[in-house]
Amino acid sequence: MSNQKLLLYFFWVILVAITGYLISVNLLLNIVSSIDEKLQYVININGLTPLKIRQYYPDKKFILGQALFFDPVLSGNRNISCASCHLVSKGLSDGRQFSLGPSEGNFSRKLSNNMIEQGVRKRNSPDLWNRDAISVKNLFLDGRIEVLDSEKKIFQNPIGDALLKQFQNALEVQAIFPIASESEMSGLFGDKSEKNLPGEHADKVNDLVNKSKYKTGTEKILSIHAQLLERLISRKAMPETWQITYRNMFIEAYPEVNLNKLTIYHVGSAIGHFEELAFAANNSRWDQYLEGKTEAINNQEKLGALIFFGKGYCSSCHMDTLLSDFKFHNIGIISDPLFTPKGQFEDLGRYFVTKNKKDMYKFRTPPLRNVTKSAPYFHDGSSATLYEALIRHTNPLKYENSFREDGGLMMEKRHIASISPILLNMPKMSDEEIAYLQSFLYTLESQSRVNAEIFPTAVPSGLAVGPK
Ligand code: HEC
Ligand code: HEC
Repeated sequence: MSNQKLLLYFFWVILVAITGYLISVNLLLNIVSSIDEKLQYVININGLTPLKIRQYYPDKKFILGQALFFDPVLSGNRNISCASCHLVSKGLSDGRQFSLGPSEGNFSRKLSNNMIEQGVRKRNSPDLWNRDAISVKNLFLDGRIEVLDSEKKIFQNPIGDALLKQFQNALEVQAIFPIASESEMSGLFGDKSEKNLPGEHADKVNDLVNKSKYKTGTEKILSIHAQLLERLISRKAMPETWQITYRNMFIEAYPEVNLNKLTIYHVGSAIGHFEELAFAANNSRWDQYLEGKTEAINNQEKLGALIFFGKGYCSSCHMDTLLSDFKFHNIGIISDPLFTPKGQFEDLGRYFVTKNKKDMYKFRTPPLRNVTKSAPYFHDGSSATLYEALIRHTNPLKYENSFREDGGLMMEKRHIASISPILLNMPKMSDEEIAYLQSFLYTLESQSRVNAEIFPTAVPSGLAVGPK
C-alpha cells in the first residue's frame, strides 16, 4: 500500500469512528432527554413535590417519648417494647412474617387459640416512616384508628367515646393501644416476668392485667392504661428510683401539667411526638430528582418510575409524596391458608372495622418510602422479597386455580369479588418491567443517615434497651 493510500485509509477509519461515536452519543442523549421529558410530564400532571419534613429537635417531650418507645417496662411482663416489633435495623418492621406477642406466661410470643377465637389476627408489622401528625389520617392495616373530624378531634378508635378528649392526632391515639393489647404488650392475667431481669423487675406478677375477667373490652383497656401510669410514676406507693426518673421526665415534658393530672394521653402524645420526628425519612434520590437533579436516578430507575406512574397504574393507589392514598383495597393477597383452615380465621381486613361486606379482604395502601428495607411484605408477610411481592401484586389471580393442602381452592369467589379492577385489568408485565419497577422503589430510600440520637443508651427502668 502506498503512503497516500494508507493515509486515506486511516482518514476513513477515523471518520467512521468519529461519526459512529457522535451518532451513538446523540442517540443516548436523545433517549436520556426523552425519558426525563416524559418523567417531567408525569411529575407535573401528578403534582409531585419533594417530601418536606419537620426539623429534628430533641426537646424534653421527644426524650420522654424515646424512653417510652424503647423501654420494655411498658409491657406486662417487662420484656417487650415498641422497638421489639419496630426495629430501625429492619426498616421499622421486625423482619418476621407475623409479629409475635407475649403468650400465656411462657414468653413464646405467639397467639393462643383463645386470642384467635376472640378475633385477634396475626399481622405483619408495618414500617413507621413518615406517619406524620398532619397528613396521616388513618393507622393500622384496617384503619381502626382514623381521624373522623380533624377540627373537633374525633377519632375512630377501639374504645370509642371513652377516649380522652385531649388527643390531637392519630399517631398519639395509636400509641396507647399496643400497650393494652395482650397479643402485643400487656400479656395475660397471672403472668410473671422472667427471673433473670435486673433489679426489682424479676419474677414480678403482671400488675397491668389485674383481673382475670373484665366486663367489656373498653373496661380492660382503661384499666391497663391506669395500671401502666401507676407503674411508671407510682403516685400511690413509695416510688422506686427509676419511677422518680420517669416522674421528672413527665414533669419536664409537660411543665404545665400537675403530676396528679397526668393521664395515658401524656404517654401517647410523647410517643407520637418521638415517632413523628425520629422516623421522618426524607432526602431520597427520588426527592432529589423531584428537586431537579436529573442525575440522581439512573435510566433503569427512570423507566421504573414511568411504569409506576403510567402503564402499571401503581400511583392510582400509591400516590403523592408518601406514595399512598390511605384508602382500602383488596389486591388479592389472601391470608395464609395453613393459618386459616377453611377460612374460619381469615383476616377480613377493613371489614373488621366497618362490618360492610364490600370491605372484606381490603387493607390500607401502604406508603412506600423505605419499602426496600421492611421485608417481608403484605399484611400477612407472605412475600419474602420485594420482587416476589411485585410479581404477585401485578398478577392478582395467580393463585386463582391453585389448591390448598386440604384440597380447597386457594382463592374462592368471596376472595376475588372485591379485588380492585385496576389490578385485574393491569396489562401483563414482563420480568424486565418488574425489575424496572423494583429499581424505582430503591430510589425511595432515604439518604439521610438515621440519627444516632434516635437510640437511647439506657432506659429509665434499667431494663435492656429495646432492640435497634
Ligand atoms: C408485638 C409486636 C408489636 C409491638 C410490641 C408494637 N407493635 Fe406497632 N404494630 C405491630 C403490628 C403487627 C401492627 C399492624 C397491626 C394491624 O394493622 O392490625 C402495628 C402497627 C403500628 C402502627 C400503625 C402503622 C400504620 O401505618 O398503620 C404504629 C404507629 C405502631 N404500630 C406503633 C407502635 C408503638 C408506638 C408501639 C409501642 C407502644 C408498638 N407499635 C408496639 C406490631 C407491634
Ligand atoms: C388498587 C390499589 C393498588 C394499586 C393499583 C397498586 N397497589 Fe400496591 N398495594 C396496595 C395495597 C392495598 C397493598 C397492601 C396489601 C396487603 O397488605 O395485603 C399494597 C402493597 C404493595 C407493596 C408491599 C408494601 C408492604 O409494605 O407490604 C408494594 C411494594 C406495592 N404495593 C407496590 C405497588 C406497585 C409497584 C404497583 C404498580 C404495579 C402497585 N403497588 C399497585 C394497593 C395498590
